[in-house]
Amino acid sequence: MSRFWSPFVKDLVPYVPGEQPKLTKLVKLNTNENPYGPSPKALEAMRGELNDDLRLYPDPNGDRLKQAVAEYYGVTAQQVFVGNGSDEVLAHIFHGLFQHDAPLLFPDVSYSFYPVYCGLYGIPFEQVALDEQFQIRIADYAKPNAGIIFPNPNAPTGCLMPLDVVEQLLRANRDSVVVVDEAYIDFGGETAISLVDRYDNLLVTQTLSKSRSLAGLRVGLAVGHPDLIDALERIKNSFNSYPLDRMAIVGAAVAFEDREYFAATCRKVIDSREALVEQLQGKGFEVLPSAANFIFARHPQQDAAQLAARLREQGVIVRHFKQTRIAQFLRITVGTPEMNQALIDALG
Ligand SMILES: Cc1ncc(COP(=O)(O)O)c(C=O)c1O
Repeated sequence: MSRFWSPFVKDLVPYVPGEQPKLTKLVKLNTNENPYGPSPKALEAMRGELNDDLRLYPDPNGDRLKQAVAEYYGVTAQQVFVGNGSDEVLAHIFHGLFQHDAPLLFPDVSYSFYPVYCGLYGIPFEQVALDEQFQIRIADYAKPNAGIIFPNPNAPTGCLMPLDVVEQLLRANRDSVVVVDEAYIDFGGETAISLVDRYDNLLVTQTLSKSRSLAGLRVGLAVGHPDLIDALERIKNSFNSYPLDRMAIVGAAVAFEDREYFAATCRKVIDSREALVEQLQGKGFEVLPSAANFIFARHPQQDAAQLAARLREQGVIVRHFKQTRIAQFLRITVGTPEMNQALIDALG
């Protein structure tokens, strides 16, 4: 703390990201990155951006990327917002759409950045308990609220809410913004983007950090009614006109266009997940059903924090959360079959 800090900064409780180790030999299964690289076509397109044009500012609107996303999902570019990672997109959503008198609702076990943004922007919130099976019970959201947000599949559980249930939730909450954070949707879920033309209160966020393997590029997006997108543009243009650089705009657009590579790598991750679930169950772990590129598992006889520490000693890092309800779980990113085998060997 410094005497120069404002009282506001003093009270902030920042998000703590998963470890990004400097040691490269570690088997890194802790931050849900994709074990396969980005689309080679996207890499080539980004290399093509490394020229004298870097002296010029990028397109402040990222139109090339908005167009690629619009085409991919069959929406208009006016329904698309792009930003520096979906974390930034989420920050603008909290700032621009959730600041009202009633509480924002989200699950008690969920993405831990949500309460941080509430703290940053002064948004009252209520964490709604998941049921015993760690599922969202939509009836529990039938109360006055200034918005609802949840990841689908949920993080860190990996559990998926089927699209028809998402629609029931939307129908029951016509007067507040419902944000579906689809960071992991491509690993087994069905996107709610198909519903944006019918529900003007729906905003769907996605990231290129997971299924398109571009966590290092920092690109995220939101799709929804143009009036909601307009609110995000107003915030963005009051904060940073150029959140995406020249490489990010082109690389992300080409990653959306390279459907073949995307489909093939998602398939590999899904197959690898199913194999890993079986291997872990064989070792006595209980594993929640996952539609994501990670699994959430606990061992009835092993303390999760100790297990994570012992795995770390053996060069395998997984994520452990201290939060009481999930303190006995480990969140394990799905790696290549070789990485998963290294985990299984370390557990052995
Ligand atoms: C549920 C969820 N939403 C959003 C994000 C943010 O992703 P990014 O900022 O890399 O787009 C993450 C990252 O792990 C996440 O788990």
